[in-house]
Amino acid sequence: MKGVILAGGMGTRLVPLTLITNKHLLPVYDKPMILYPIETLERSGVTDIMVVCGKEHGGHFMNFLGSGREYGVKLSYALQNDSGGIAAALGLAEDFIGNEKVAVILGDNIFENNFLEDIRKFETLNGAMVFLKSVADPKRFGVAEIKNGKIMNVIEKPKEPKSDLAIVGFYLYDSDVFSKIKTLKPSLRNELEITDVQNFYLEEGNLHYGILNGFWSDAGTFESLYKSATWASGRTK
Ligand code: DAU
Repeated sequence: MKGVILAGGMGTRLVPLTLITNKHLLPVYDKPMILYPIETLERSGVTDIMVVCGKEHGGHFMNFLGSGREYGVKLSYALQNDSGGIAAALGLAEDFIGNEKVAVILGDNIFENNFLEDIRKFETLNGAMVFLKSVADPKRFGVAEIKNGKIMNVIEKPKEPKSDLAIVGFYLYDSDVFSKIKTLKPSLRNELEITDVQNFYLEEGNLHYGILNGFWSDAGTFESLYKSATWASGRTK
């Protein structure tokens, strides 16, 4: 299975840090953020990877990461001209993925565990698979409600969350994902939302899920960047 790392967007929640460089090139303890999703994919057996990055800093990503050989992966790059949303960024990988299944990871998501077993399981399934983690602040995330072992609904940043289960930024899709993205309409924040993609699969009865173990955090706010760095510093001691 091929992988896509989504590292576009403006990183507005980290201004003024992101006035200097792209969010994903900022340090999380001892290395740039982008290396965490690369390592997560590599540990999950996904080594043929496209990095989608914002056009302003595309050259910086390429200068730093090169072919990916140093990290045990093979990298291709795509540029996102504007921050049209996570689903729009994924749409740029259509030709790279072709008719295969795809593992998608958000460039600001830090995972302790790998997804080897989940990917193996997903190879035998159709549809999509998301991963859920109980969090203290579900309003910041996509949230899933589970009943009788099934996902009932998925809502992006709900004002009144029906559960504390955040949908983390790692997704497995069949290649139908690209035709679904083409039918999406922009949300109120004028982005093509990845949660709307999950909703298409949910309506088809094809949205699978797993419960995530181990540390997970995004690193897109000052608090979560600090939390991620603190975790990373403890891990490397
Ligand atoms: O961290 C998990 C959460 O990530 C999920 O629970 C949410 O459902 C999902 O929408 C997302 O929420 P955020 O609002 O935190 O996403 P953010 O805008 O920070 O974007 C996350 C990553 O996606 C970012 O690091 C780079 C990539 N991205 C984002 C946008 C808006 C792109 O590549 N292009 C874009 O246009």
